[in-house]
Amino acid sequence: MKVTFSPPALPKKGCLVLAMAEGPEWGASARALEKHGVDLKAAAGVHGFKGRKDETLSLLSQGKYARILLVGLGKAADITLQGIAEAGGAACAAIPAAKVAEVSALVDLPPKSKTAPADAEAHFAQGFLLRSYRFDKYFTKTPKDKRPVLNHLVLLCRDEKKARRAFAPLLAIAEGVFFTRSLVSEPANVAYPESLAKECQSMKSLGVKVDVLGPAQMKTLGMNALLGVAQGSANPPRVVSLSWKGGKGAPLAFVGKGVTFDTGGISLKPSHGMEDMKHDMAGAAAVIGTLFSLAARKAKVNAVGVVGLVENMPDGGAQRPGDVVTSMSGQTIEVINTDAEGRLVLADMLTYVQRKFKPRAVIDLATLTGAIILALGNEHAGLFSNDDKLAEQLFDAGREVEEKLWRFPLNEAYDRQVNSSIADMKNASNERVAGSIYAAQFLARFIENKTPWAHLDIAGTAWAKRDLPLTPKGAAGFGVRLLNRLVEENYES
Ligand code: BES
Ligand code: MN
Ligand code: ZN
Repeated sequence: MKVTFSPPALPKKGCLVLAMAEGPEWGASARALEKHGVDLKAAAGVHGFKGRKDETLSLLSQGKYARILLVGLGKAADITLQGIAEAGGAACAAIPAAKVAEVSALVDLPPKSKTAPADAEAHFAQGFLLRSYRFDKYFTKTPKDKRPVLNHLVLLCRDEKKARRAFAPLLAIAEGVFFTRSLVSEPANVAYPESLAKECQSMKSLGVKVDVLGPAQMKTLGMNALLGVAQGSANPPRVVSLSWKGGKGAPLAFVGKGVTFDTGGISLKPSHGMEDMKHDMAGAAAVIGTLFSLAARKAKVNAVGVVGLVENMPDGGAQRPGDVVTSMSGQTIEVINTDAEGRLVLADMLTYVQRKFKPRAVIDLATLTGAIILALGNEHAGLFSNDDKLAEQLFDAGREVEEKLWRFPLNEAYDRQVNSSIADMKNASNERVAGSIYAAQFLARFIENKTPWAHLDIAGTAWAKRDLPLTPKGAAGFGVRLLNRLVEENYES
């Protein structure tokens, strides 16, 4: 969808969206519409529209307009930029995309609002855009009248230049989210290690350095934990490093679990619902989308993204339960359960990223455990960290962009459970308790020299089971807005 910014003149026709604070607080735009013969007050009164947050009212055939949509911003005192973006999302969801090609939108902030109009307009546009995402490339038979035609959003602004400037980084972030969503949505016969690595090459045009390792190089580097996971698949693994240099000093590192399909391996998963395991590369996709956004908005930061791309399959060469592998760190791992493969992949990626890039901090994202869904459902992702400051920065960023995190404990008592009777550690325990903490504690053994590190278990949040304010049902792109906010607030010079 194209998003443009124009002077505030009311459009002559089409679909008009009007956002306002609770009351409703009729602003200048509503008054201007009255002159066009549109009595919004009467219509809102009849329908009981109050302008509550994300409340919408669709009014058909108003004066010269085919459709006017009112959308609430909520109580004047509670309005935030995130809330305005969500109202944009609500507006998008209320417009039939198969019937309306172009939408014009006005954001009427309440009097004395501390929010700058240009920021409000830019965030409204971003929210609308984020909610408009569709992954429909595989439908070949959609009837003409059901095909989406919505392709243009025009923000009517008092200062369109300012709004356009405020929107530029928000567009870069939305494009990163879309990139992530598309990678996660693709089925595993399309998105496999080699093809994902190829997708990453497109980021070169943004100034991102892209390095790809194949199995031979991985073998030389000693990445046997990752290679063990890959050995049961006909699709060879890849490790992709993406590096963006926009600032000074040691980079911030992002690491992603990129299991392009997780059958469980020899510890095979039940078939019911197994198709969801094409999402098991959502951590890697979030890292790729984040690097895309950072580069697209020319963020003043040095950042590197490393993703381990493998397919976990059970062929005759597959790794067996009980096998012992030597990870790149030199530590040995007993593979109790071949379905606890993400931590094996991440182990080597954590070692690699620390030794190669000497980062100031490492944040990994992974659809790591079913247990995190038992604990937190789909509302929060799990946060684990050895560093209170980093944990707090992430927690705050998550709250601000509504990609919420909840912190879990790590400690020596949990760490002891990771010991094996035959090797340095085992990848899973036989006790079915605290599974997400166990996995995080396993990862912690690969952090060197007290490097600040955080692990985000996004198994419950990577895929939206229902529509969310900024996310239509489906791949959420969880992590991209969160990490961009983290960087903006704490790491950009
Ligand atoms: N990819 C799964 C975790 C997962 C489960 C993600 C459900 C999304 C939805 C992971 O590789 C896995 O299989 N974890 C096991 C670990 C266990 C064998 C110790 C799990 O959570 O059951
Ligand atoms: Mn698994
Ligand atoms: Zn997995």
